[in-house]
Amino acid sequence: MQIIKREVLKEKPVFDNKLGFGRYFTDYMFTMKYNVEEGWHDAKIEPNAPVQFDLATTIFHYAQGIFEGMKAFKRVDGSIGVFRPGENWARMNRSAERMCIPQFPEDVVEEGLEELLKLEKDWIPSLPGTALYIRPTIVATKVMLGVHASTEYLFFIILSPVGSYYAHGLEPTKLLVEDYYTRATVGGTGEAKCLGNYACSMKAGEEAEKKGFDQVLWLDAQEKKYVEEVGSMNMFFVIDGEVVTPALVGSILPGITRKSAIYLLQQNGYRVSERRVSIDEVVEASRCGKLEEAFGTGTAAVISPVGEFEYKGERFVVNGGKMGEITSWLYDNITGIQYGKKPDVYGWVKKI
Ligand code: COI
Repeated sequence: MQIIKREVLKEKPVFDNKLGFGRYFTDYMFTMKYNVEEGWHDAKIEPNAPVQFDLATTIFHYAQGIFEGMKAFKRVDGSIGVFRPGENWARMNRSAERMCIPQFPEDVVEEGLEELLKLEKDWIPSLPGTALYIRPTIVATKVMLGVHASTEYLFFIILSPVGSYYAHGLEPTKLLVEDYYTRATVGGTGEAKCLGNYACSMKAGEEAEKKGFDQVLWLDAQEKKYVEEVGSMNMFFVIDGEVVTPALVGSILPGITRKSAIYLLQQNGYRVSERRVSIDEVVEASRCGKLEEAFGTGTAAVISPVGEFEYKGERFVVNGGKMGEITSWLYDNITGIQYGKKPDVYGWVKKI
C-alpha cells in the first residue's frame, strides 16, 4: 500500500475525558477511488487534508453516500484492538448494494485500516471510555446533475480520538418518543447506514434537544406504534425479567453492538427476545413497575442507560433514573472484551 507521509504532524489534543466526540482528526487518511474502467483502485494512505470537489458532484445533490463507525482501543496489555471490523465491512457492502454503490474489496480496506492504525497508534487514547473512532465513508463523486447512480466514488477512512458520545458520559439519557416525524420506513433505507437517514433525523433531534432531551426514540412510520431505534443507538428494554429489543424489520439499523449484546446476554443465561415492541407495552410495563431497565447500544454510544422517556406529554422514569444491573453487566462485559480486561472468548477483537 502506498503511504504518502506529511512533513509536519498535527498537534494532538489532551487525551482526557473532554475529548468529546468527533472533534479532532488524525494526521492521515486512507483513500481509494472507483470508476467504471478501473473498478476500485488507487488505494493509499495520505495526509488528512481538505479535498476539492466540483459543486456539481453527485454527493452534494442527492446524498448518494454511506458510512460506518468502528473503534480502535488501547488495550490493557498495550496492544491495539479493533472490535469486529469484518462485521462493519459486510454491513457497509450491504448498505452499498441498497444505495447503488459498487461492492468494494473488503480485504483491501481491511489492510488499509491496519496500516493506517499502525501509523496513527499515538493517536489512540488510553483512558477508560476513550478510543480512536474510525469513520469509513463512501461518497458519489461523478460531476453530474441527473438523478442516476454515480459512476465514480471515493472511499475514505478518517480517524478521531473520542471520549463518550454523550456530553454527560454514562449518566442515563432522556429520550423523547417521536410520534410525528419519521426516520425510516420498510422498503426505504432505514437498515442501510446511508447519509440521508441521519440528515432527516435532525429536525426531530433539534426539537427534542430544545425541550431538554438527549435524543429521539423513533416509532415505526406506518402506525407510530412500535419502537424502532434512537438513530445513534439500537434500543433494549428489560421488561419483567426479559430483555427485549425491536426485531430488524427493515427500517432499523442492524447494529453490531446490538448483535454482540444479544449474543453475550444469551450466552450468559439471560432471556432475550427480538420482537416488535409497542410503545404502549413499554408505557404499560412502566406503569405497573415491570419496566426494569432501558438502554441503547451503538459503536459511539457503547451501552448507554436510558433514565427517562416522554411519550405524549407524560414522563416515565426508568429504574429511578439510574443505570440498571443488566445494563451495567453488559457495559462491563462489552468494554471488558474491547479493552482486554476480560477474555475475548468469541474472537471479536482484531489485534493490530
Ligand atoms: C456509530 O455509533 O458509530 C454511529 O455511526 C452513530 C452516530 C455517531 C452517527
